[in-house]
Order: sequence, then structure tokens, then C-alpha cells
Amino acid sequence: MFIRSELIGFGHYLPKKILTNDDLSNMVETSDEWIRTRTGICCRHIAEDETTSVIAGKAVAMALENAGLQAKDVDLIILATVTPDNTTPSTAAKISRDLGFRAGVPAFDISAACSGFVYALTLADNMIRLGQVKTAVIAGAECLSKIVDWTDRNTCVLFGDGAGAVVLRAKESAGLNTDTGVLSTCIYADGGQFDNLKTNGGVSSTQTAGFVEMNGKEVFKHAVVSLSEAAETALKNAGIAKEQIDWLVPHQANIRIIDSVGERLELPKEKVVITVDHHGNTSAASIPLALSENIQAKRFKKGDIIVLTAMGAGFTWGGAVVRL
Ligand code: ACO
Repeated sequence: MFIRSELIGFGHYLPKKILTNDDLSNMVETSDEWIRTRTGICCRHIAEDETTSVIAGKAVAMALENAGLQAKDVDLIILATVTPDNTTPSTAAKISRDLGFRAGVPAFDISAACSGFVYALTLADNMIRLGQVKTAVIAGAECLSKIVDWTDRNTCVLFGDGAGAVVLRAKESAGLNTDTGVLSTCIYADGGQFDNLKTNGGVSSTQTAGFVEMNGKEVFKHAVVSLSEAAETALKNAGIAKEQIDWLVPHQANIRIIDSVGERLELPKEKVVITVDHHGNTSAASIPLALSENIQAKRFKKGDIIVLTAMGAGFTWGGAVVRL
């Protein structure tokens, strides 16, 4: 018997407040033209009185409803975030409490920055295939606006807040590349790149969360290579050819990074999903947000092959191939 994780529900949530590039140009020395041409970002959402558990909880509730399931059906919740409500317990535990998941259901956060959702997918898929759980909710949610230095134009124009979630469920499969569900995952890290993208503080070092700092050019260079290579590895492991890809959903950091990855994978532009224009970079939330938005818009169809690829602080990176 071969078990795969099927993607059976999608949800997302964006805080109401929208911050445009023009708004930013009143806060720091920048312009709509600079931000658009360098990053492809036009606006981003900002959480004002909502925390990560609140926005993630809304995405998880939508994903469960979309799957036709209730809180009592969930066997596992993993939240990818770098902006938790509390240092401890995990924000996943808070969601579990607020949504009324059963006592005993494992709940934990993972910290893998912008690759967090692909890391969560990998963990949950492995637990499902081992038979440890049947129904898992994986979410990515960030209130990055809380760790951005709003006086630093190098970083503050890039990020936004949001949440996305996916419900996975075990299904007996043939074990072939024609199956539906998660066909392959791969995750990586290179701690040697630690200093190129980080917060300048943390609980055990400064007793603060710190603010995001980065070496933009180094991040850019590594992102193009890592995102492309992770996608290619995931495709190879799944036994799927580039020509079979219906959609590429890359981490949404910068339109120029995304365009380069699409070109390296020789994909026509219309197969490359873009949300960075209206979400900015929402780190771990960017991939599940893009998945859910496109499911809701009925752009993605049953049977479509989707390649996910992500890269972020650590550096971490990873990819996955799924068939809806
Ligand atoms: N508005 C106007 N000018 C700016 C701004 C701004 N918001 N930010 C920086 N500048 C200035 C700099 O001060 C610098 O000026 P100087 O030359 O006088 O010193 C100049 O613009 C730099 O310009 P470029 O070299 O043309 O900038 P570049 O093309 O490298 O673009 C960017 C910068 C957008 C940050 C790019 O390096 C990038 O996208 N890197 C990837 C970073 C990223 O996506 N990080 C997200 C987290 S990681 C992830 O999610 C994968």
C-alpha cells in the first residue's frame, strides 16, 4: 500500500490595511518607480491590531471549510513563521486552542524563514506517509511589519503581512508519478550564509526580536540559483518533466528573481504565478497565499501539476512537486 498526501483544502487571509508605494515614499526616501522597477511590488498588507495567530487562524479556518472538514478532524498542525505571538508556547498551539482542535493533536511552529512552508509541507508529508497522522494542516503566516525597520528604505519596501494554509490528507495511491497529491519534496540549508539575511537581535542575544537586515545583492544571487535548483531536484525526484508543469509557484520575493527562475526553467510567463505585486514578500506565507488565491480564482484545476520553490534566511531553500 502506497500512501500520498493529497491537498484537499486551501485558505488565506490578508489584513485590511494596504500600504502603497506612494505611502512609503512619505515615510522614507523612495519612489513608486524605484520600488516597482527593482522589485515588482505595488502594495502590501499590514496587520494593525491582529497578531500572527489571528491571521493564521483565519487562513486555517478557511482551509478547513474549503476541505469540508471541522476542527475535530485535524491530527496535526504545523505553522511556519518567524513572527510568533509569544516566544513560547508556539503560535500553532494558540491556533489549536482558538480553533478548538482536540487535546493531544501535535502543534508546533517551525522557523525556516521564507522556506518555512516548503519545510512544513515536507515534515507533514513524511508524517502522513509514515502513517503517523491522517489529516494535517500546514500554514505559513507572518506579521513581518513588526520586525521591519520603517526608517530603513533598503528593507521596509519589500515586506508585507499575510497568512495561507493547506489541508493535507492521507490517500492510498498507486505510487506512480500519475498520482494526485505530494509527489516529491526537498529541503536544504547553508548556515555559512547566516549573516546575509537576519534580524539584528533575538531573545537570547538582545532580549528583543530585532529588525531585518540583509545583503540584498547576495540574497538575489543565491535566490535565483537555489530556487531554480530546488525546483529541478523536486521535478527529478517526482519523475516529472519541465514540459508537464502547469504552474510554477515560487516564493514571492522580487519579480526579477521570479522572472530569472522562470527563464532558467524555460517556462512561459503565463505558467509562473505572481502575487508579489499586491502582497510584497510575506515570507513563509507567500506560497500558501498564492496557492489559495489561485484556487479561489478557479485558475488552478484538478489534476494540475504545480512546482513550489522557496528560499530564505539561513540560507534555507527547498522545492516540491504536487498534483491537485
Ligand atoms: N528606494 C530608493 N533607493 C533605494 C531604495 C529604495 N527603497 N533601497 C535602496 N536604494 C538605493 C540604495 O541606497 C543604493 O543607493 P547607492 O547606490 O547610492 O548606495 C541603490 O538604491 C542600490 O540600487 P541597486 O544596486 O540598483 O539595487 P538592486 O538592483 O540591488 O536592488 C534590491 C535592491 C531590490 C534589494 C535587490 O538587491 C533585491 O531584491 N535583493 C533580494 C532581496 C530580497 O528579496 N530579500 C527578501 C528576503 S529574502 C527572500 O525572500 C528570498
